[in-house]
Amino acid sequence: MALPFLSAQFALPFSFAIQSPSSRRLQRNSNTGEIMKNILRCVGLMVAVIGGLCGFASTSYAAAGAVRCGKLIDVRAGKTLNDQMVVFDEAGVISAVGPSSSDQAAGANVIDLSKSTCLPGLIDVHTHLTSDPQNSGYKGLGVSVPREAVTGVKNARLTLEAGFTTVRNVGADEFTDVAVRDGVNAGEVLGPRMLVSGPALGITGGHCDENLLPYQYHYKGQGVADGPWAAREKVREVIKYGADVIKICASGGVLSKGDLPGASQYSLEEMQAIATEAHKLGRKVAAHAHGTESIKDAIRAGIDSIEHSSLIDDEGIRMAKEHGTYLVFDIYNDDYILGMGEKVGMLPESIEKEKKVGKLQRANFRKAFEAGAKIAFGTDSGVYPHGDNAKQFSTMVAFGMKPVDAIQAATVNAADLIGWADKVGALEKGHYADLIAVDGDPLVDVKVLQNVKFVMKGGNVVKQ
Ligand code: ARG
Repeated sequence: MALPFLSAQFALPFSFAIQSPSSRRLQRNSNTGEIMKNILRCVGLMVAVIGGLCGFASTSYAAAGAVRCGKLIDVRAGKTLNDQMVVFDEAGVISAVGPSSSDQAAGANVIDLSKSTCLPGLIDVHTHLTSDPQNSGYKGLGVSVPREAVTGVKNARLTLEAGFTTVRNVGADEFTDVAVRDGVNAGEVLGPRMLVSGPALGITGGHCDENLLPYQYHYKGQGVADGPWAAREKVREVIKYGADVIKICASGGVLSKGDLPGASQYSLEEMQAIATEAHKLGRKVAAHAHGTESIKDAIRAGIDSIEHSSLIDDEGIRMAKEHGTYLVFDIYNDDYILGMGEKVGMLPESIEKEKKVGKLQRANFRKAFEAGAKIAFGTDSGVYPHGDNAKQFSTMVAFGMKPVDAIQAATVNAADLIGWADKVGALEKGHYADLIAVDGDPLVDVKVLQNVKFVMKGGNVVKQ
């Protein structure tokens, strides 16, 4: 049974239109019209106040309304428009965007952000909501799977409140991410729209296996599958249990024990089998790949995005452009791992690996961007604290992008990669009313995105 406060509908500033699905039904069927509406408003207001005091999740169903934006970033064109109105319908979908007129602005359901800059909700295509950095290394072995799901609920909220209204979660134990996604979709958990992978697929002993325990424990990661047919079967299995996207490990990693980021793990043949099977079943594939050869094999195999992309060479960049493969560079991570890694329990070998990989990754990010490769914004949050996702924007700018490029990576490009270009990533008619607002101009100082003041998801205000 849903907890009343988690599924109840909290404050909507423009109309107190606070409705639960059942209250909506009541309203539609009621002959007593206004009286019932007023009762519901009062009940809703009480729930909002109590919920607010207790700090419960504030999910709500949209009423039609509008947001007036002092400035609005047209992310597709890469320019700022003045005094715009974003109008959305009851389903939380944008019905119009255009210059605001005074009668619109006077309407009852208009949220006034005339002193702020609006942008579409941001998208992070590489998160691990069910993990926290303080459980790195051996400490993580003491965390139960149900506890990880609870961690995911907490991080879903932090991520949404930081302005990320959509995430692609690529790797979680035992489908805890499926549970969080379903909780969000049911209105029981406050969080971003989520595409999830479940457990990541990988070779025995690879980055996507769990290598911390000695042989006598006989433990293996849930995504381990060796050989093309076993890998195909694993694709089918994770889809059976709810995966929207397939995550695989093409090379070794930094935070895994006993492997090398530069060394290939899945073979070309295995990745071809995975990509074919996943695409046949309507899923895209994201490949963790630091290593130069692993990146190229993943591109050859038809993988949709390369995660980390650290040691990509010129040929790899050329191939990514030819195939239209997205590159995702988690380039803020280096600061956190070198600064905090030891303290949070990362293995000494991981810190050493990071020292070799981090700088090269940043240099290769610059090269790939300058060469015109498609880049989507992905942070690997979970390695560093959730809610800090936007810290990566300024790193992207420090290594060659203009603020507008970094914002496009986290909006239109990310939406294209995840297959939701018609739904998220821009403030346009037909898209969800997922809108954030900041003080200042992010096209001048991208750091303002670290301080998102207002968040709306699907027409519902979640932060103000
Ligand atoms: N999950 C990744 C791994 O363990 C993190 C890599 C972080 N380092 C970096 N420079 N991006 O391999």
